[in-house]
Amino acid sequence: MVRFAARTGWDLTENHHAKVLAEARATGKALIDLTESNPTRCGLADAGPLVAQLGHPRGGRYEPSSLGHPVARAAVGRYYAERGISVDAGWVVLSASTSEAYGWLFKLLADRGDEILVPAPSYPLLEFLACLEDVTLTPYPLLREEGWRVDLGALERLSGPRTRAVVLVHPNNPTGTFVRRDEADALAAFAAARGLALVVDEVFGDYAHGALPQNRLPSFAGHTGALTFVLSGLSKVVAMPQLKLGWIVVSGPEAIAAEAMKRLEVVADTYLSVSTPVQLALPEILGARVPVQRAILGRVQENMRVLDEVLAAAGGATRRLPVDGGWYAVLAVPRWHDEDGWVELLVREEGVIVHPGYFFDMPAEGFLVVSLLPEPGAFADAARRLAARLSG
Ligand SMILES: Cc1ncc(COP(=O)(O)O)c(C=O)c1O
Repeated sequence: MVRFAARTGWDLTENHHAKVLAEARATGKALIDLTESNPTRCGLADAGPLVAQLGHPRGGRYEPSSLGHPVARAAVGRYYAERGISVDAGWVVLSASTSEAYGWLFKLLADRGDEILVPAPSYPLLEFLACLEDVTLTPYPLLREEGWRVDLGALERLSGPRTRAVVLVHPNNPTGTFVRRDEADALAAFAAARGLALVVDEVFGDYAHGALPQNRLPSFAGHTGALTFVLSGLSKVVAMPQLKLGWIVVSGPEAIAAEAMKRLEVVADTYLSVSTPVQLALPEILGARVPVQRAILGRVQENMRVLDEVLAAAGGATRRLPVDGGWYAVLAVPRWHDEDGWVELLVREEGVIVHPGYFFDMPAEGFLVVSLLPEPGAFADAARRLAARLSG
């Protein structure tokens, strides 16, 4: 009998949500999916011309370079420079996605059984990645009553001898918050004092909903207070997850950052996972981001305006939580039903699919999460049905 590794012994049976959804689909009723966050399915800009760049003959030669092709690393440096952030291309490491970059950083930083502090609430991406690297995730709370500020006291209490890194999603998904500058400095000081690395996921960094207040930090890229890894990639920056290109920007005290680069280079060299055509097309691809981001921000803001309007018209029993950025809205809903109850009711009776708050590890019951990317006609229709149902 073949024995599989225990780390892959997942329970893969269909969960309750999947069953409810399958039943609803089987009735043949049209459903509006407010969990849709795949930008290539939301009727946004035509990606065809950019995808065509991958067919350029320059991609026909294979000259592998572990940290990434110099042309591509320089393009990432320029992307930050255009945002007013100074990043030397020598500190950029390319990967096939942010998810892969997380995996590489866990390999770099943690031995089997070591711990990584992760924010709660946040996007549920890391559980499987951590499991595959045999590391343990320890959630630390973000304080809702303080605008989702990092609970530094809790971080101190939760960090132990086996803690290796603190993950921050910035702006956070789904709460949409950018950290304050003083909070960033305190986090870096905490990490440096404990010998921890900061892993900052900035995939939504270009999607602030307006001018960021002066006291908010736009990016951790280049922050030198602690060993810092900033993650981002084409999934969100140009809304093209199918291109499979992400990156890590390394910074921190010079000697330790240089050591991290040397080790990461070996990790990256082991996989060489980013395709040559996408690397060589990166200058054109990143150069095309402005209209893409403008279209997405326009979509997100228009859908949010409609959502607020219909919620207000429905009497205010359900509120949208404030956000600084991102593609999601969090709704604080009445507690007549628990989150599963609401999700089920909305699918069965209104034909609208939403996420329960607990999917994102919200601190209490009573939240639903919706994507703001869907096509506006369908979104408005679903928002009206939601608002009516969530108001009694
Ligand atoms: C916060 C966050 N990080 C990372 C990812 C995954 O990005 P990638 O496609 O680069 O792996 C997502 C995907 O939605 C995300 O929401």
